[in-house]
Amino acid sequence: MFEKLQAAPADPILGLTAAFEEDANPDKLNLGVGVYCDGQGRTPVLASVVEAERRILERGESKTYLPIDGSPEYGRAVRQLLSGAEADGRTVTVQAPGGTGALRVAGDFMHQLYPQARLWLSAPTWANHPKVFQAAGVETAEYAYFDAAANSLDFDAMLASLEKIPAGDVILLHGCCHNPTGVDPAPDQWQRLGQSLADRGIIPLVDFAYQGLGDGLDEDAGGLRLLCRSVPECLVASSFSKNFGLYRERVGALTVQATGADAAAVVLSHLKVCIRTNFSNPPAHGAAIVTTVLQDPELRRTWVGEVAAMRDRINGMRHTFVARLAERGVARDFSFIERQRGMFSFSGLNAGQVARLRKEYAIYIVGSGRINVAGITDRSIDRLCDAIAAVL
Ligand code: LMR
Repeated sequence: MFEKLQAAPADPILGLTAAFEEDANPDKLNLGVGVYCDGQGRTPVLASVVEAERRILERGESKTYLPIDGSPEYGRAVRQLLSGAEADGRTVTVQAPGGTGALRVAGDFMHQLYPQARLWLSAPTWANHPKVFQAAGVETAEYAYFDAAANSLDFDAMLASLEKIPAGDVILLHGCCHNPTGVDPAPDQWQRLGQSLADRGIIPLVDFAYQGLGDGLDEDAGGLRLLCRSVPECLVASSFSKNFGLYRERVGALTVQATGADAAAVVLSHLKVCIRTNFSNPPAHGAAIVTTVLQDPELRRTWVGEVAAMRDRINGMRHTFVARLAERGVARDFSFIERQRGMFSFSGLNAGQVARLRKEYAIYIVGSGRINVAGITDRSIDRLCDAIAAVL
């Protein structure tokens, strides 16, 4: 059965980490995968998480199965963080293993209930987006998003793309800190997007994986909240990998806003079928951490401060990055890096330059030119800027 099988290509992001681990160069630098590092280059377990885990252990909760849709307290905490308020009855949440798990549940739901619906993805988008949905049997297409020459959002082209999307199709939007470009719509553009989607009957699916790492927990949810007020129905895939540093615990959720409580209950019944036939019911530990932190005022305060510290370090590093590149006299204007938000900078480096960074300098960035700014430290910034200046 397996003799004639050809090997699958390595994953463009996680495959880079595997290659990095094999690299014998002692000065190697992994700026591929979106993982936060502190100033010392470590990925710490947050103090709020350590304390939550201590409390969970002390409570000695059972390891019996969670419900198919996960913990109800977790669902409430997720909705509260998304909306900034107690959610109304027309919104339901299911717990999922990571943001990717939530996206796959959304893909299965789409394919099983709306097999004709296509999913529209921004050009560019996270490399795994098309694959997750295609694996679920969903056809994908692209809408205009990024103006590479201006390093900004091409909002007119984006709106023009919406004209091509039929009612009943789904559009995937990045709630904040667009991956890979770091370029997001402004609040008035979110408003116009919401209106246009509502007018056209297009359903938004918002991938929300970086809340708090752009401008603030509420600020980063601003566009999503405007959107949810404009459209009758939408889906949101949450991830707590980054803002809780819970990468390997796989903590995510899919939240669906329907037109009313009855419709929401029907949606929930179908999501449960999707989950039961995939991973059956979700893993508990990571979601218990998130719930414990968000429900306890003191732990929540600690966590809010920890998210702010991550955000400030990333945004400070953006500033340093631009300044150090300019010091090297590079001709290209990299000031756009400071305007981008989230973990990533879409550097504009081409495939040849990315390959040279890896081969000649053992610096790993994603093939699209995406650099994980959250992985740069004071120790590595000069080496990185020297290498970029050389390959330019
Ligand atoms: C990334 O884009 O680097 C992260 O979302 C991690 C991943 O799973 O690709």
